[in-house]
Parts: sequence; C-alpha cells; structure tokens
Amino acid sequence: MTCMECRSVQETNAAAALFVANLKPAKERATIVELRGELGSGKTTFVKAVAEALGVKDTVTSPTFVIEKVYKVSHPHFTNLVHIDAYRLESGNELRALGFPTLTQDPHNLILIEWPERVADILPENTPTLSFTFVDEYTRDIILPHAQESTT
Ligand SMILES: Nc1ncnc2c1ncn2[C@@H]1O[C@H](COP(=O)(O)OP(=O)(O)OP(=O)(O)O)[C@@H](O)[C@H]1O
Ligand SMILES: [Mg+2]
Repeated sequence: MTCMECRSVQETNAAAALFVANLKPAKERATIVELRGELGSGKTTFVKAVAEALGVKDTVTSPTFVIEKVYKVSHPHFTNLVHIDAYRLESGNELRALGFPTLTQDPHNLILIEWPERVADILPENTPTLSFTFVDEYTRDIILPHAQESTT
C-alpha cells in the first residue's frame, strides 16, 4: 500500500499519473477499480487526472446525474475509460440496467467507480480499491494498492 498525501490538485494529478503508470490490466475482462471516500474527498478530481494522463480530450465532469460516462483513451491496452458515480443508486440492479455487465466483459475498458458501496452486490469480489480522505481544504490522502490488478 502507498499512502500519498496530496497537498494540491497538482499533487493529486501526480498520484493519478503514478496510478496509470502502475496499472496492471486484467486480461479477460475489464479492469475495475473502486474509489472510496467521503463527499469532496477528491474522487472525481482523481478521475479527471486519470483521464488526462490517458489522453482524454473531452472535459470530464462528475457523472452524478448520468451515473455513467465513457471516454475514448490513448493507451497500449485500454480503449475506454468508464467513469461511474453510483452515489444515487440503491443496488447493483440499477447499474445492471445501465449495461454494466457488458462493460465489464471488455478487457479494453478501465472502469473507475465512485461510491462502490452502493452497488457492492454487482462488483466482483476482491475488486481493487483506492481510498480517499479529506484532510484539510487543500489536502487529500490517497491510498493506492501496489498493483491494481484484480485477483479474480
Ligand atoms: N489535493 C487535492 N486533491 C483533490 N481535490 C482537491 C485537493 N485540494 C482541494 N481539492 C478540491 O476538493 C474538491 C474535491 O471534489 P471531488 O468532486 O473530486 O470529490 P468527490 O470525492 O468526487 O466527491 P463526491 O463524493 O461528492 O463525488 C474539488 O473542489 C477540488 O478542487
Ligand atoms: Mg465525485
């Protein structure tokens, strides 16, 4: 585990670049990573930074109202970044209705999911997790596992 104290959004951007550099894609299905942490702890900010590190040109906005957004990326392995915000969902069934099972089958998808605890029933066991903590106005702690490769 690596705990990074990010004292500015720029430092969060650097943490996201490190995350991208260390990504170990799952081979036979999508790579899913849970982003856990309270409101305002920096999850969406981190996804924006991951998108930038992956060459996404579109503006990444919080998908709270649309739940799920898909961006094309430039990466040797991944084709799409899927950003999910499950905050407004009550169970995995609602995510299923949005086509989540199909998205998880494509090994070229990198799926980052905010508020995974809302849809825990649909997520594979041992899904890797990044944890975000609000420290003060400008500081957020991010805990990254060593490898983001799922064991299932
Ligand atoms: N070091 C930092 N890293 C990330 N965000 C920071 C940092 N310092 C300040 N911020 C600010 O904190 C806010 C984090 O909001 P963000 O939307 O990323 O949180 P979130 O975890 O996605 O919240 P929610 O659960 O509501 O979706 C942003 O306004 C961002 O500018
Ligand atoms: Mg968010």
